[in-house]
Amino acid sequence: MRATRQHPRPPLPRRNVSIIGTGAYLPERVLTNADLEKMVDTSDEWIFTRTGIKERRIAAEGELTSDLGAAAARVALQNAGVDAREIDLIIVATCTGDTVFPSTACHIQHKIGATRAAAFDIQAACSGFLYSLITAEQFVASGVYDTVLVIGAEKLSSVVNWKDRNTCVLFGDGAGAVIVRSKEGCNGILASDLGSDGAQTDILSLPAGGCRMPITAQVLAEGKNYIQMSGKEVYRFAVNAMIRSSERTMELAGLKTEDIAWVIPHQANIRIINTVAERLEVPGERVYVNVHRYGNTSAACIPIAMHEASSAGQLKPGDAILMVAFGGGLTWASAALEWC
Ligand code: ACO
Repeated sequence: MRATRQHPRPPLPRRNVSIIGTGAYLPERVLTNADLEKMVDTSDEWIFTRTGIKERRIAAEGELTSDLGAAAARVALQNAGVDAREIDLIIVATCTGDTVFPSTACHIQHKIGATRAAAFDIQAACSGFLYSLITAEQFVASGVYDTVLVIGAEKLSSVVNWKDRNTCVLFGDGAGAVIVRSKEGCNGILASDLGSDGAQTDILSLPAGGCRMPITAQVLAEGKNYIQMSGKEVYRFAVNAMIRSSERTMELAGLKTEDIAWVIPHQANIRIINTVAERLEVPGERVYVNVHRYGNTSAACIPIAMHEASSAGQLKPGDAILMVAFGGGLTWASAALEWC
């Protein structure tokens, strides 16, 4: 019989970890389905019935992912009553960073004046915000850091092929941010589940720009510098992954469907959201949806939705919230949270 492995020391006492402030920023320019009808062979009817999207926001020419993220961060800081110099760490979830390096987190650190903060990016596509939130949780729970700024920010309009109707109708630009701290008297993050399946990298990817496919004239001519997606395969994966991950997180948190006050899902497609809600038996009025206004903003979807729901007074202290996402990688993530 194999000996049981001994831990070198008992686990450290862990602090509870809460979201104490939220923020969001959406660019001014609205691109409607009617606008898209003039750009590609599509219709408002096709887009709305297949995806639930009516319009999306598009960043201005010189407006960068770091600008969107910094704007959302400023709102979150104000909302939490926290000064930028109190931030110990900035984590930015993005797949459309300003530069391959430095990280977008470093650009934002400078823009908001978070002079004390360490900063790095996390790349898990649309699951990136939850990956980042759970990473932040570890730093705060262990006592390594007190205050972490977590941002989901994307300028997807810069990586969408505006001639490809299969993808260009789906995406939008935006950013959301949260301030993460330990807060007395609140359980905060209750449980989470992160996962990935690297065997399916090709069904959702942006192939060019890395060392695997450096940008060349031929690569540009073939449009490999844009999002490539097998929509139907992604759809099937998304539904299954979101259901399985949600169930696992609810089980870990000891929550039943009726305990969940709000589900805040990744906003890719209303049909995916509705199928997941039906299978989890969560009534529609407890599922936060804004996909009709912003489309899929990837890592920014969940923090934008959370900020909107919080600002509208829809999230009450003590509410159990389930967040769930899927994305390129393939990746999936979910987390349950007690709202403070
Ligand atoms: N307007 C009109 N017709 C279109 C459009 C459009 N914008 N796009 C596709 N079509 C056509 C197709 O060409 C196809 O025509 P064909 O039958 O003559 O070949 C027809 O419509 C049906 O296409 P389907 O693929 O069957 O449509 P489906 O019902 O699967 O919906 C969609 C497509 C909306 C893309 C869906 O599969 C989906 O939402 N998938 C998940 C996408 C997603 O969530 N991606 C996440 C990306 S996250 C990230 O990249 C960071």
